[in-house]
Amino acid sequence: MKARIGIIGTGWVGTSVAFSTLQAGHAGELWLYDQRSAVAEGEAMDLADGAAFYPRCRVQAVPLEKMREADIVVLAAGRNGRPDETRLALLRDNARIAAGLGRALQGFGGILIVVTNPVDVLTRVVQAASGLPLERVIGTGTLLDTARLRERLAVRLGVAPQSVHAQVVGEHGDSSVPLWAGARVGGVALRDWPGWQAGEEATMAQAVRRAAYEVIQRKGATNHAIGLVTAKLIGCIVNDERQLLPVSRVQDNGVALSLPALVGASGAHQITAPAMDRAEREALVASSELLDRAFRSLSE
Ligand code: LAC
Repeated sequence: MKARIGIIGTGWVGTSVAFSTLQAGHAGELWLYDQRSAVAEGEAMDLADGAAFYPRCRVQAVPLEKMREADIVVLAAGRNGRPDETRLALLRDNARIAAGLGRALQGFGGILIVVTNPVDVLTRVVQAASGLPLERVIGTGTLLDTARLRERLAVRLGVAPQSVHAQVVGEHGDSSVPLWAGARVGGVALRDWPGWQAGEEATMAQAVRRAAYEVIQRKGATNHAIGLVTAKLIGCIVNDERQLLPVSRVQDNGVALSLPALVGASGAHQITAPAMDRAEREALVASSELLDRAFRSLSE
């Protein structure tokens, strides 16, 4: 039986996740919920009207409690950032919503994917509120930052993004950590690539960190890339692909941030830490400490 996918929040991001998931054919049932019930109904009707153009899937607006019957539930509810507003600035508004949804999903038997920002702290909030096993509460985390880095490196080097093996870890945000030491293009170390200059690393890291701000400044939100990234994660779970992806989950020290994890039908499982040089290890510790402080600020 094809998967039952639920999406909570049918705003910019939730509807893009729905569209990308339908196009990819990952779901047999796609359930939408929004506290604005008419919006969820309208989105379901609009997507259902396109049924001739995606693999068979029944799209419906459902009550929140129906989500407990899903295989995967995507949490995309909350407000998005204003121009030049950091993701962490959304914390207080969105943590309340995330905690409530986590409580409503206590005992849920499937996998929760958290998208709402600040996604790392909210992944920890949802895991704590729901009590689900750590591996079954997954934040999209730096999977999007990694896609952005690979796209920019691909353009710079004139190769396909699929041939760029570089990743970003830590916070999906201003303290994200691109891993240059382990970056490869095909089998060639990036730092050995003809013409690559060490000074380009800082410039490109900043471009990746600024990417969302540049989009939000122009169109008011980001949604297409995060929709595609989330659909990719859904596919990896639905098809038990066991891919190594940089996604956010609560780590051994209790802080949720992105590190490569083995992603498949049972969730996101920790693996050994990737190769990092001293600067990258220090930056990851700083990112973890920042995210831990943000989470603890909720109880102050
Ligand atoms: C972005 C949002 C999803 O980076 O945080 O586009």
